[in-house]
Amino acid sequence: MAIHPPASRIWWNEPVAKAELVWIGVAFVWGLIMFAMMIYWHIYGQQNLSTTVGRIDPAVFEERTNDFVAKYQVREEGDTGVPVVKPEPGGDAYMLARTFEWWPILELEKGKPYRLHISSLDLQHGFSLLPVNMNIQVHPGLEHIVTITPLEVGSYGVVCNEFCGLGHHVMTGRIYVVDPGQGG
Ligand code: CUA
Repeated sequence: MAIHPPASRIWWNEPVAKAELVWIGVAFVWGLIMFAMMIYWHIYGQQNLSTTVGRIDPAVFEERTNDFVAKYQVREEGDTGVPVVKPEPGGDAYMLARTFEWWPILELEKGKPYRLHISSLDLQHGFSLLPVNMNIQVHPGLEHIVTITPLEVGSYGVVCNEFCGLGHHVMTGRIYVVDPGQGG
């Protein structure tokens, strides 16, 4: 119940000022333009990843990633011995997110396609590949499979871009792209 009831009972049927009607029209047309832009950008924006998403038990994803690391690890890196894993060109690569790391490090060959599997074991994380501006929101229980073909040799950083807790700012990973002709 309002403290001061409206003086006129039919308060909703007042004449509307012309300027206000014009603004409602402008906002409506702008909304239509923005809606059309979503469709246009989806087709012509060249920003859509070739991603498929499916449900997966985080424990199963962890097991597959562990198997992948055991099979293709080539060396370790850093004080904590993060495995560097070199999958077969044309094959599957796994990278998992957990508080607070992207694991393991991948080493891919330039010009070769890979099916990159990404998921989280615990919370929502973000997969942001720098400096190529590839971003994927990563949830536990959902697996992204992205077909990628790296085009340039280099060291690419992976940072978490979804706030996930106290260690969010240190949650990083790495992907190396090497020239197959130079033996890594
Ligand atoms: Cu993981 Cu932020």
